[in-house]
Amino acid sequence: MSTVNKPLVIGNWKMNLDFVEAVHLGQQIGVMLRNKPAEHTEIVVAPPFVDIRSVSSIVTSERIPIAVCAQHVNPHDNGAHTGEVSTSMLKRLGVEWVLVGHSERRASYAMDDAVVAATLRAVVRSGMKAVLCVGEALEVREADGQDEFVREQLLSALNGLDPKFHDQVTVAYEPVWAIGTGLTASTEQVRAMTTHIRLVLPTLSMGASRVLYGGSVSAQNAASILSEGRVDGFLVGGASLKAESFLAVVQACDDCYALMANRRS
Ligand code: 13P
Repeated sequence: MSTVNKPLVIGNWKMNLDFVEAVHLGQQIGVMLRNKPAEHTEIVVAPPFVDIRSVSSIVTSERIPIAVCAQHVNPHDNGAHTGEVSTSMLKRLGVEWVLVGHSERRASYAMDDAVVAATLRAVVRSGMKAVLCVGEALEVREADGQDEFVREQLLSALNGLDPKFHDQVTVAYEPVWAIGTGLTASTEQVRAMTTHIRLVLPTLSMGASRVLYGGSVSAQNAASILSEGRVDGFLVGGASLKAESFLAVVQACDDCYALMANRRS
């Protein structure tokens, strides 16, 4: 864990859970957090578009201390973009966060660097917070090209971004080869990359941004990645689909932060 930032855990539900199931999971998270509140960790969930309204409603009405994130948004304000959703539509539903450039969108839905940059700008201009997802594929890692690859992704998305938006950006390092595979990057690999990202961000005057890790994060590996990987939290896929495993990751962040705060005092 880095030493300054409070931890952030985001559950990316991907294309899972219909709105009934999503409400159920949201309520379970609410009950569990009432019994054992997270003291230090900020919690965010990213349901599919069609679930957002229902999840937002129960979060508000049941005062569940979590924020709602969208998994994607179209950078245009409105118009002829069949099947897409705009930032203003999300804001109206109480969405505070948007994932930008998740590797699954980059790989399968023609989201190139230019679209990622435009989307990130649309998100922050609307007042929402952007989670910029970066990470290399296996062949890049095997050729030891991961540092340059991630640097390019960061620069192309963030270069020239108006400084007034800098504090609305969080970076999530998600190596493609670790997503949904059960293969987690080793703590050394995570640490090396988060250190690298923290060297690139100050060249963009964004040294204060939080850096998350994602890729087969679980209740079992969260504590060691946090304590040794120099991350500020996690972007969790599979393990976020059950309240118990999601909140176990949150708990690991809470415990780790408390331990580090104790050491600092
Ligand atoms: P998994 O945790 O299922 O590997 O997914 C990671 C991810 O892509 C989160 O955005």
